Order: sequence, then C-alpha cells, then structure tokens
Amino acid sequence: MEFRPLTDEDVAAPPAWLAAEADLRPDRWRDDCTRAIVGLEGGVPVAVGRIFPSRVHTSRFWTEIVVDPGRRRQGVGTDVAAELARLRPDDRPMCARGSLSSAAVLFARSLGARPYQTCPPEQVRTSSAASLAAQGGVVVVAGADVTLEELRRAWTDTYAWAHETWSPVADGFEEPLLAGFDADLDRTHTRVVADPAIRAAAFVFRDQPHPVLVAECRSRHQPDGLGLLRACVRASLLSLAADGTEEVIFDGHDTDPHFRPLLDELPATGEPFVLLEWGLTATVGPRRSP
Ligand SMILES: CC(C)(COP(=O)(O)OP(=O)(O)OC[C@H]1O[C@@H](n2cnc3c(N)ncnc32)[C@H](O)[C@@H]1OP(=O)(O)O)[C@@H](O)C(=O)NCCC(=O)NCCS
Repeated sequence: MEFRPLTDEDVAAPPAWLAAEADLRPDRWRDDCTRAIVGLEGGVPVAVGRIFPSRVHTSRFWTEIVVDPGRRRQGVGTDVAAELARLRPDDRPMCARGSLSSAAVLFARSLGARPYQTCPPEQVRTSSAASLAAQGGVVVVAGADVTLEELRRAWTDTYAWAHETWSPVADGFEEPLLAGFDADLDRTHTRVVADPAIRAAAFVFRDQPHPVLVAECRSRHQPDGLGLLRACVRASLLSLAADGTEEVIFDGHDTDPHFRPLLDELPATGEPFVLLEWGLTATVGPRRSP
C-alpha cells in the first residue's frame, strides 16, 4: 500500500465509502503532531488515518483509522496503523477507545494495545434514585443556585485530579476543556454540595439520546465524599425524573474513588468501555498482502 498526506482536496471531495459526515482534516492541520494520511492501492484510496494529541491530555496520540468497508479484515488497518506510528514526531504512545466488543477495540488489541483505563456499564434509569439512601443533613443545591464561574472552577479542579494518575491534563487544559461547557451544562438538573465552594457535584450535560452525568468530589480526599456525592446524584436523578427523563448515561471511570462505589449502589446496564494504548512500532504486525 502507498501512503500520501491527506490534502484540502481530499477533505473537499472524500472517497465515496467515507460517511458523508466523516470529520476529515488535512495533514498537519494543527501542527507537526497532527498527521493525516490516505492509504492507496493502485492509486485508489482504501483507508484514511490520523493521529493527534488531545489539547486536554497531551501524553498520547489519539489514533483514528477508517478502512473502505469492502476492504476490511485484509490487513489494511494494520498497515495504516504502522504508517501512523512511523509518522509520530516522538515516541508518545498511540491510543484508541471504544466499547469492549467494538471493532475499534478488537483492532487495537490486535496491534498489541493494553487498557490504561476502563469504564463500567453506566446506563442508569432515573427511577433508580430510590436505590440511593437519603443523606440527612447534607444540603444539596441546583447548579442554577451557584455562579457559573464556581461551576467552571469545580469542573476543572475535579477533572484534573480524577485524570492525574492515568492521563494527566496538559498546561492550559482549562480553555479546551471548558469549550462548550456553558452551553452544554444543564444547571437546572445539576446538583452540588456547596458551602459556598463546591465540594461534590453531579454535573448534568445535555446530550442525545440521553443526558450525561459526571459525578465526583472536588478533591480526592473529601471527607465523607461518598455521602456527599450520593446526595448530589440522588437529587439530580430525582430532578431529571420529575422532568420526564427516564434514562441517563454516567461518564466515569473505574478509578474514580467516590463515583465508582456509588455506581455499585445503582442498577446500571450497558457495555464496559475501554481506553487502550500501544506504543512501539515493533508491536504492529508485519504487512500482509491484500
Ligand atoms: C477498525 C478498522 C479500522 C479495522 O480495519 P481492518 O483493515 O479491517 O483491520 P485489519 O484487517 O488490519 O485487522 C487486524 C486485526 O484486527 C482485528 N479486527 C479488526 N476488525 C475486527 C472486527 N470487526 N471484529 C473483530 N476483530 C477485528 C482482528 O484481529 C484482525 O485480524 P484478523 O482479520 O486476522 O482476524 C475497520 O474495521 C474500520 O474502518 N472500522 C470503522 C472505523 C473504526 O471503528 N475505526 C477504529 C478507530 S482506530
């Protein structure tokens, strides 16, 4: 297979097998760390791929590959992954994510990837609020009752410590992390413990098909963190249920010290989600003939 950089012309006129809504960017769209290529056989595009560090977490290269559906399971994706690994400007590992049984995860595993984070099943019915014990003496208020500035600060503080051991945030992560925060945050159903600084929160984000909830304490070492968080989550679920929302998706990790045990108190369904990394070109298999 031959490779060439993805161009503005490719972006304007993508191959017919790429979904119309595919998000294509030309090679080096941000800088020398953001690489995008096309894989060609006989001059015909059969795959696109790209690597890029997130602006929030810079320690790995996200890897995205799409192979022509008619050419899958023939080693094309493996060849693209190997080429992208070669194009890395440094030896930061590559990473991908998906549901446990997704093609993305099975493909990454075939490249030698190992999980660096896992997320449990996180679909929860709002009626499950009844499973959570009421927390006497814990005062919970709506996100609408605290300032947006305090909500933003609590979000960035919480996000930074919750990722610090497995995907540390980059300098200046606040700006990209907060892009869209004001518009997406549903302050009506968000619930926080605040005195007046927020100590624990169930942040509710508007999303389709279900709202997304992120629940954690502002500090890893919050005394009675589980109790404070239980009060926030219970109040958020009750508020959403009263508004007619039947189901939500939590967005937490198996390493979250307060959220993870709390989720065990709720009936949750869905498929586990996994984030995987692989680093060495040596782990990428040899090229195979088409
Ligand atoms: C995931 C994807 C890129 C794989 O491309 P591909 O050219 O089919 O991959 P390869 O032929 O190199 O597969 C290598 C190995 O990965 C695993 N694998 C790939 N696709 C798989 C699938 N759908 N189910 C199970 N295993 C799969 C297999 O172990 C396979 O080896 P095998 O065919 O000898 O069993 C392709 O299915 C695709 O474009 N999917 C849609 C977009 C996507 O999900 N991209 C993933 C983001 S990185």
